[in-house]
Amino acid sequence: MDRQAGKRRAAEEAVKLVERGMTLGLGTGSTAALFVDLLAKKVADGWALKGIPTSEDTRRRAERAGIEIVVPDETTVIDLAVDGADEADPKLNLIKGGGGALLREKIVAGAARRFVVIADKSKRVAALGAFPLPVEIEPFGWALTVRRVRETLAGLGYENAGIALRADEGEPFQSDGGNLIIDCALGRIDDPARLAAALKPIPGVIETGLFCAMTEMAIFGDEDGVSVDRPR
Ligand code: A5P
Repeated sequence: MDRQAGKRRAAEEAVKLVERGMTLGLGTGSTAALFVDLLAKKVADGWALKGIPTSEDTRRRAERAGIEIVVPDETTVIDLAVDGADEADPKLNLIKGGGGALLREKIVAGAARRFVVIADKSKRVAALGAFPLPVEIEPFGWALTVRRVRETLAGLGYENAGIALRADEGEPFQSDGGNLIIDCALGRIDDPARLAAALKPIPGVIETGLFCAMTEMAIFGDEDGVSVDRPR
């Protein structure tokens, strides 16, 4: 499969959901970047679009596209959030965070009236978990947090989970918010909501890359076109 063509097709389809004057949640990653780039054409056509970027990379890209950047307040309405995913199961539960922006992505997706995922078809899986689950953690005492995460995973049957502190050129990777990310190789996640609920209360865990029951629709592309999936 031509994954790049699939990403582009999905992004093009998502642009059809955008209307003049909308405030958009702007995701992070290579597929979301294509979506943002396509919005430049709308702005050039005179559409006023506002955006809430989920990363500094996306903020720069949105500015280049001519999108007005919004710092949300309590009254902000996000009409539509569009983002990529690392994996999506048939219920459209997701693993996200491969790009390290999972916390901001979840805040924006969770606040949006509509959350739409765009991805090439390789991201569609029968069950989550082949992609290591990113978990964003507080830097202070991070190794203690990892120990609790390991214990919690073992209690759920993931005794052999591989947990790796994400690195970037030999240094610990830092999210835009200054947090660390651990990637948890689990193999297969049978109950994503249960796993998310078990990990979230651990002190030091800021957010997990499990996005459960948040996705209204997913647009999957390949070189032949797109399919639009709803949660099953
Ligand atoms: C960013 O943190 C991620 O959640 C991305 O949305 C995800 O990794 C998908 O990225 P690509 O569109 O580059 O595959």
